[in-house]
Amino acid sequence: MIESSAKSVVLGVTGGIAAYKAAQLVRDLQRHGIDVQVVMTEAARGMVTPATFQALSGKPVHSDMWDASVPDNMAHIELSRGKDAIVVAPATADFIAKLANGLADDLLSALCLARECPLIVAPAMNRQMWENPATRRNVDRLIRDGVAVLGPASGDQACGEVGMGRMLEAGEIAEAVAGFLAPKLLAGARVLITAGPTFEPIDTVRGITNLSSGKMGYAVARAALDAGARVTLISGPVSLPAPAGAEVARVGTASEMFEAVKKHSARCDIYIGVAAVADYRVDKPSRHKIKKTERDQLNLRLVPNPDILAWVAQRPRPPFCVGFAAESRDLDAYADEKRRRKKVPLMVANLAQEAIGSDDNEVTLLDDRGTHKLPRAPKDVVARQLIAHIAKLYGAKRRKAE
Ligand code: CTP
Repeated sequence: MIESSAKSVVLGVTGGIAAYKAAQLVRDLQRHGIDVQVVMTEAARGMVTPATFQALSGKPVHSDMWDASVPDNMAHIELSRGKDAIVVAPATADFIAKLANGLADDLLSALCLARECPLIVAPAMNRQMWENPATRRNVDRLIRDGVAVLGPASGDQACGEVGMGRMLEAGEIAEAVAGFLAPKLLAGARVLITAGPTFEPIDTVRGITNLSSGKMGYAVARAALDAGARVTLISGPVSLPAPAGAEVARVGTASEMFEAVKKHSARCDIYIGVAAVADYRVDKPSRHKIKKTERDQLNLRLVPNPDILAWVAQRPRPPFCVGFAAESRDLDAYADEKRRRKKVPLMVANLAQEAIGSDDNEVTLLDDRGTHKLPRAPKDVVARQLIAHIAKLYGAKRRKAE
């Protein structure tokens, strides 16, 4: 069984123009399996109607400190009880000042002061307000008080100016919150991950590659980081930003990927081969651009690349190895055959034509105990479930070895 650990947060919305992004944030948090209770300040209600948040969250929106519908009339305490965090997004300069000084003159600030759970804020304000020494002092104080501050980012602002102070995008905040709340299932473990395609040159400007986007491998790297692992990511050529906190080695060919894996595999506890490694490379790539000739055929001689996953799995004291099988048909049968042939305890099977390049994935996990099909979901959600499963199998392997 794949375990899902449902999380829930209070989303506090304060009165900045970025309040419109908080509507999307509700959706993005839910996408990560996080239940959302919205609390708005009076000023926020002037920006976006509570009805929008009620419809999105499926719950009444609270703003009133003395709300009779809350048990004991104690909304300022009750609403955050049992929650995993309070997330304030957007957090205006004024609200940050209140938090830094422990003021509690409305429901949201009172909830923050009376909380037992972590507080996460995503500031949003004009760049001058952000740079003002008073705001700097307030933000520093929040950080010293253990509040997690997400952003802000730099860029175009609603006021027409450009600079630091823009709230992070809803997707970025949701991902950071999901990471913050993720159980630290792999605390201290060293995880080596390969991702993306490889590129096998034919000549100086051409090559053989595949359609792998790297999205799944990068999502697995982020999920492992969120689970507390130390992550090294060996990436083929992709256009994705490096996951914050990972050590990233960028490679081109399968041979380069193999060398990088050899370098890092001795010091890893878990190896996850997500990369779509080319099975063959051109025997002798031309050192010049091949010219078109009158001949009607150009023959390329291909030679096999090493199987990196099988090599890691056959090391004397191998890390816990996980492979990804991309198949176009007979998914389970081919993937299980691959798992046995490469001698890995866990194989993740997906349909190549559906997984490659897509933001979603539907995978089946194959291990000694059988198969576990995960529902189709965004790759970051699949990655989290996969990491939870790996942590369970890896923990069992360690206990057996002790
Ligand atoms: N793999 C590898 N080195 C290779 C080929 C594949 O490490 N030269 C790894 C991949 O990273 C993946 C797993 O093996 O974890 C399965 O990859 P896949 O391409 O599905 O399998 P292949 O062994 O290449 O078999 P085929 O292409 O015939 O399906």
